[in-house]
Amino acid sequence: MTFSIDQYRVDGKVAVVTGAGGRGNSIGRAYALGLAKAGAAVVVADLNAEGAQAVAGEIVAAGGKAIAVGVDITSQDAVRAMAQQAKDAFGGVDILVNNAALMVELGYQPAIEVPIEDWNKLVAVNVTGALNCCQALVPQMRERGGGKIVNQLSGGAFPAQSLYGVSKLALLGLTTTLARQLGRDKINVNAIAPGNVMSDAGKLLTPDESPFVKLLEATVAMRVRGEPDELVGALLLLCSSAGDWITGQTLHVDGGWVIRP
Ligand SMILES: NC(=O)c1ccc[n+]([C@@H]2O[C@H](COP(=O)([O-])OP(=O)(O)OC[C@H]3O[C@@H](n4cnc5c(N)ncnc54)[C@H](O)[C@@H]3O)[C@@H](O)[C@H]2O)c1
Repeated sequence: MTFSIDQYRVDGKVAVVTGAGGRGNSIGRAYALGLAKAGAAVVVADLNAEGAQAVAGEIVAAGGKAIAVGVDITSQDAVRAMAQQAKDAFGGVDILVNNAALMVELGYQPAIEVPIEDWNKLVAVNVTGALNCCQALVPQMRERGGGKIVNQLSGGAFPAQSLYGVSKLALLGLTTTLARQLGRDKINVNAIAPGNVMSDAGKLLTPDESPFVKLLEATVAMRVRGEPDELVGALLLLCSSAGDWITGQTLHVDGGWVIRP
């Protein structure tokens, strides 16, 4: 097969992006708009149903296809209902982007002091939530002859330096496990680990004067801060046929923060 630039397009595909309806300028919104521009019909899923509606509205206003679904990904029943809504609207799902997460909620609290209820909530969203979505949507991908799953990690997990990082490492474990188990179903499972992204949530967590940003400035090879749109190219590689032979991998998009051998 000869390479064509059109392999980066996802025309006719159906994508679910979780956490795509959040705080204003979010990474999930950039992912949803990017997938729609590349040709996919998008299910914009978020706990914040109103925010999801706004992003789906943006896609439709630009001539794309989208529906909004208000969903709490920690609830298996709610996620199953979302999967059914996706199927009813577009016939089935090919692409799942597990982007929803709790990030700002724990801040930089020392692990030893974090109330265990808060840890349980973090794991319920960042890990179990992603697994719930995979369990609900992989059957649809199998029916359609394959699919793509992309899990959203973080540079802050390499190595983990907070309980948030620990939850993202668990999601990395889910990525490699599912990559092995779903490969023969032609389902690629990969991850993106962004650096310090200037989404509204990122700005809230890491203001210019934060010690974390100072630390990054001393270590990052290229540029510490990026915009949500700067992650979309990596997402399209992993969601399109351009990435058909890539599975089980983590793509670091972070200006050279985490550089691994
Ligand atoms: N901003 C950064 O610097 C940065 C860096 C690395 C990784 N990330 C990751 O990127 C992703 C998006 O981050 P963001 O900066 O856009 O933050 P964000 O807070 O805007 O996005 C998270 C979204 O998840 C949704 N959500 C939370 N709990 C949910 C639940 N139970 N069910 C459904 N949706 C739920 C929120 O409503 C929100 O819209 C997250 O996975 C985050 O961990 C962000």
